Amino acid sequence: MNWKTLSTSVEMTESLGEAIGAVVTPGDVITLDGDLGAGKTAFTRGLARGMGLRSRVTSPTFTIVNEYNDQNGIPRLFHFDTYRLSSSDDFYDAGLDEYFDRDGVCAIEWSTVIEDALPKERLAIAISGNGDERTITIAFSDAFLSKMEEVKEKMEKEDMHFEDTCM
Ligand SMILES: Nc1ncnc2c1ncn2[C@@H]1O[C@H](COP(=O)(O)OP(=O)(O)OP(=O)(O)O)[C@@H](O)[C@H]1O
Ligand SMILES: [Mg+2]
Repeated sequence: MNWKTLSTSVEMTESLGEAIGAVVTPGDVITLDGDLGAGKTAFTRGLARGMGLRSRVTSPTFTIVNEYNDQNGIPRLFHFDTYRLSSSDDFYDAGLDEYFDRDGVCAIEWSTVIEDALPKERLAIAISGNGDERTITIAFSDAFLSKMEEVKEKMEKEDMHFEDTCM
């Protein structure tokens, strides 16, 4: 599946993240690609909120990965920014692939850098645009369809509409 939508504000992008955060389950991998300032971290901020996590999400650029725990101290969200890695070799060398086996959701900014290390089953989000407008495409396999139908229903109430671009 390949869905396309338009966000007209940072709040709307966060809100989409929040709706997705409400349906994700441990082990899900979400990739976030798009230029500097596209809104990948903004989306992740919403994602964390939707997952019921209280800490404010900040960019993991210098640490590569930030972990967010729930109120019981259990790690739920692993937020990666692989911008500073040069390839998936760096990712494996640092043992970062082990996060895929931990019982949490992985959100990965700049995922194309580590493309060959990524699981096939994932929600792939691409963000582009300028000013306050962003075109957001979401590519996913059947495994995510019912979750995404739920997201769609919720977001349509907030006036965000989706176009199915899979022909
Ligand atoms: N519709 C929109 N969706 C998301 N962000 C928007 C939108 N309109 C404007 N913005 C602005 O774009 C910026 C997005 O910043 P953000 O840090 O989320 O980008 P990023 O993709 O994570 O960048 P980087 O590659 O540097 O990590 C913010 O300043 C935000 O206010
Ligand atoms: Mg970012």
